[in-house]
Amino acid sequence: MTKQDAKWCVYLTRKVAAEIVERLQEIAQVEVWEGDGPVPRDVLLKKVEKADALFAMLTDRIDEDLLKRAERLQIVANMAVGYDNIDVAAAKKRGIVVTNTPDVLTEATADLAFALLLAAGRRLVEANRFLHAGEWKTWSPYLMAGQSVHGAKLGIIGMGRIGEAVAKRAKGFDMSLLYHNRRRNMAAERVTGARYCGLDELLQESDYVVLLTPLTPQTRELMGAREFSLMKPSSVFINVSRGGTVNEEALYQALVTKQIWAAGLDVFQQEPVPVDHPLLSLPNVVALPHIGSATYQARTQMARLAADNIVAVLTGREPISPV
Ligand code: DGY
Repeated sequence: MTKQDAKWCVYLTRKVAAEIVERLQEIAQVEVWEGDGPVPRDVLLKKVEKADALFAMLTDRIDEDLLKRAERLQIVANMAVGYDNIDVAAAKKRGIVVTNTPDVLTEATADLAFALLLAAGRRLVEANRFLHAGEWKTWSPYLMAGQSVHGAKLGIIGMGRIGEAVAKRAKGFDMSLLYHNRRRNMAAERVTGARYCGLDELLQESDYVVLLTPLTPQTRELMGAREFSLMKPSSVFINVSRGGTVNEEALYQALVTKQIWAAGLDVFQQEPVPVDHPLLSLPNVVALPHIGSATYQARTQMARLAADNIVAVLTGREPISPV
């Protein structure tokens, strides 16, 4: 079949590597949004009318309003493990398959979570700024002193694949492990020795709390004023899930009133987070622009998996990673 004969149309909402586009072009006509940011909503609403497959990003809202225009759509392949940007029930109702990209980003995201933990606990960003500002006048006993990582207690909220990968890294630092999850993860317990407990106990006991739960109606603002008040004054909070899992005003108050010691945040309620956001004014916040899985290797594998899901569905096979 030549490209011209291809009967399917695939719409990609961002530029990805040429090999991914070529893979899709083997079976379909492919159109890519060539702009630098997310595809504007009005453009997406138009494009989806003719698309058999949508290669989407977490910045694209795939809701009822969009899906009802998508008469030919067979699959939404999200290039992310999280899919809170998609109304999955509305898609299923229309027989549209939704896929995500689990596994291929697990290790990269766990690396980033651990990097944030180290950076926030040991004040890496603050110390780096201090040096560049010419404020380093002498060595001194408590200059930029932080919290121990080695031997500390780590509490993981959301013990899925990424949680388990973070736990494995923590074992290398001789950390003791607690976790909280919707249900017990016996396999992770066996591999990592993590102990299951309730959320309150985890918050009270942990020196580091890493939040990895997906954003759902049940986890929206899971961390609020009450939860932060349970944490130790020396504790560090890390969020690598979705910004919506945290009440940011409560986190800000917890940091300012020293209920907790520091935070490392890869995600925010509003992304990009406004530069005048109160959390960004705090020296004890390490803030990153949602780069959890951002390695060349992981992002390429995520894009390949999204493309493979599209090829599978359009050619009448089962999707590889349906949600
Ligand atoms: C995901 O895959 O959900 C990540 O947040 C993207 O980096």
